[in-house]
Amino acid sequence: MDGDARKETSWRPQTRLVRGGLQRSAFCETSEAIYATSGFVYDAAEDAEDAFANRVDRYIYSRYDNPTVGMFEERLRSIEGAEACRATASGMAAVFASLACMVETGDHVVGARALFGSCLYILTDILPRLGVETTIVDSPDLDAWKAALDRPTRAVFLESPSNPGLDIFDIRAISAMAHDAGAMVIVDNVFATPLLQRPLELGADIVVYSATKHIDGQGRCLGGAVLGSEAYCMDTLKTFMRHTGPSMSPFNAWVLLKGLETLQLRLRQHCASALDIATALSQRGDLVRVLYPGLESHPQHALARSQMSDFGSVVVIDVDGGKERAFRFMNALDLVDISNNLGDAKSLATHPATTTHQRLSPEERESLGITDGLVRLSIGLEDPRDLLEDIADALDGA
Ligand SMILES: Cc1ncc(COP(=O)(O)O)c(C=O)c1O
Repeated sequence: MDGDARKETSWRPQTRLVRGGLQRSAFCETSEAIYATSGFVYDAAEDAEDAFANRVDRYIYSRYDNPTVGMFEERLRSIEGAEACRATASGMAAVFASLACMVETGDHVVGARALFGSCLYILTDILPRLGVETTIVDSPDLDAWKAALDRPTRAVFLESPSNPGLDIFDIRAISAMAHDAGAMVIVDNVFATPLLQRPLELGADIVVYSATKHIDGQGRCLGGAVLGSEAYCMDTLKTFMRHTGPSMSPFNAWVLLKGLETLQLRLRQHCASALDIATALSQRGDLVRVLYPGLESHPQHALARSQMSDFGSVVVIDVDGGKERAFRFMNALDLVDISNNLGDAKSLATHPATTTHQRLSPEERESLGITDGLVRLSIGLEDPRDLLEDIADALDGA
């Protein structure tokens, strides 16, 4: 380990977010360089042969590796405390690649029903078409997970807090049961980010991100990442990605490197504003439910406290009056935008039943608590007083 690498291992998270993985070129640039190149050249045909035979470690083609993407992977790896990281073109590319690289026909996979719609689609539609049997668990209740994991299982997939119901899954307990069944545990840590929840320390094997959310956090580009052991990321997953191509672009890696630099500062504000707004909204008498893991009224507040250091940017409200009142409320918002994204500097409101989770049957939505009156609020970085006034006015008007 050279001097810089030794220093880096002692850096605190905020320093790693700004400087982790930085590789300066011969031009000594301050900011990370964008290596906007699809390929790399060789002095001689023998050098290309050596590269493809893995006899030398060098860049070959940006579908495999790229220096700017490599800096992003190393910075995120260092924050997560994982052995390795592979960046992907989007969060869904990360989710699909993390599973597809390791399953085969006849395998059993267990997943939560409380997942982002596209993640659930992979489990219920795509994997079964490939001959993988999936068992979907309807609740965070540990007895239900125990029953699902009563036979050999290849992988477990869950999201905590879940989108949009903010269910909290006991990562420690589920990981222990999953390991007994021989499974690798994949946690989609999008709502928590690597700063608020550390799934690998809680027992999970693999963490996936949509970097589109808080890691960019400024609505500019898509990205994703998969983190885990060296053997999984650099052998199983890297080989799969090399031949299927869900790689991140160098430009997006650069944007996301800039996003990581401010992640901690932004998250502090996201969490403080979300708690203020959730607290104020829970004091109104006209809402059926206000959900935020940081509120004592959240049914799994104690579990959230035990595995998260803060509670994130998403607050969910259930308005009395179903879809009609939910739409009137959203249309009356002046500052908060209607959008299906989250974790952005701009506050965003989503109606999951008609957008992100519209593919589910009414019964499935009901089992997840996704009522027609449910609105997901991603609390951004505006002054929380302006946000609260906007939300309160829109609720009063609706
Ligand atoms: C929890 C969760 N996982 C995965 C994704 C997919 O990420 P992306 O849109 O970057 O593909 C999203 C959002 O879209 C999400 O909310």
